Amino acid sequence: MAPLFPDRDAVFPGLKDKVYFNYGGQGMLPRPAAEAIAQTYQRLEDLGPFTLTSNRWVNEQTEQLRQTWAEELGISPQTLALTDSVTTGCNIVLWGLDWRPGDHLLLTDCEHPGVIAIAEALAQRRGVTYSTCPIQATLTEGDPVQVLRDHITPQTRILVLSHLLWNTGQVLPLPEILDFAHRLQIPVLVDGAQSAGSLPLNLTELGADYYAFTGHKWFCGPSGVGGLYIAPERLGELLPTYVGWRSIDYDSRGGMTGWTGDARRYEVATSPYPLFIGLERALQIHRQFGSAQSRWERLTQLSAYLWKELQSFKHLRRLSSRPPQAGIVSFQTTAPLTSKKLVKTLDERRIYLRTIGDPDCVRVCCHYFSTEAEIDSLLTALASLDSGADA
Ligand SMILES: Cc1ncc(COP(=O)(O)O)c(C=O)c1O
Repeated sequence: MAPLFPDRDAVFPGLKDKVYFNYGGQGMLPRPAAEAIAQTYQRLEDLGPFTLTSNRWVNEQTEQLRQTWAEELGISPQTLALTDSVTTGCNIVLWGLDWRPGDHLLLTDCEHPGVIAIAEALAQRRGVTYSTCPIQATLTEGDPVQVLRDHITPQTRILVLSHLLWNTGQVLPLPEILDFAHRLQIPVLVDGAQSAGSLPLNLTELGADYYAFTGHKWFCGPSGVGGLYIAPERLGELLPTYVGWRSIDYDSRGGMTGWTGDARRYEVATSPYPLFIGLERALQIHRQFGSAQSRWERLTQLSAYLWKELQSFKHLRRLSSRPPQAGIVSFQTTAPLTSKKLVKTLDERRIYLRTIGDPDCVRVCCHYFSTEAEIDSLLTALASLDSGADA
């Protein structure tokens, strides 16, 4: 497998002296993005941080990010609200619904604590009930669509699930899930933390209702910039909760005329605008190196290579018996190895993975610009731990 671009370490200098596989936690910031952020802070000082010129320029750059990100996701810029994280996007949707006491929210057993916290707060403050359905086991057996179907109740108002599961790496069959949920007139909030930037997405064609994502993981933007897609037909039913001067439209004399007619109604106030520019540059870098489809093909080749090689270890057991459909490969350890000890030992050797609590496993994230040589370094280190365990 030839690397997708030869000067990778010049673009991602952070990768020079380490073997990094934590893209699902936080991506590596490309050098041009880091430089754009620093230059923007300086430029704003040079222009004067609040002047007609700087404000106009910042607005143009914000809309440029919205445009580029929307193109990447197959949506119109009017359907994209800029947020600061996945969790904020999920909050916007879940607090924006017109809940009645006794309404039910269905989660899977593979959701992130951030989303579960929102469900818990809704239960405490709005009398909403929530439950989880056992999707994790469908990695090896069973149909996730059937599991969801079996756990819907007449009170279910919304399904909340991840497109690409952060723990096991399974890609849920979103088209089928959306199809059955829509037949029951139940909207779906998709947590796209791990899928956005790793899977090729066309959210319009997919027919998603709400899709929350972030720039700082697989898109390799700075932390602090996220996005929320809201299908145009859902705009009317999702009430803005946190609001501010960016949520409203104005007449020519500056009078407020109402919520903006698009997804900007869920944006609030002053943001770290230089970070928007940094993310836009990161998106441009990905585009330079190939389409979302070709990037996904590359990262699945790499993760499939790792997954295949992992089968030969005595004390490591791959979670999935099928090759990965995206960049995440998770495996479990058997005694005397433990996930925590393994991750710590590799960390000391500057090879970066993470543990996951449920199921207890180790997660490896391969990006399209990861290299076979990096995977081989990981495999060599794992082999020494594996054989050392018997010593
Ligand atoms: C599936 C999933 N959802 C949500 C989050 C939280 O993301 P953020 O910090 O952008 O809210 C993560 C982060 O790891 C995640 O993996």
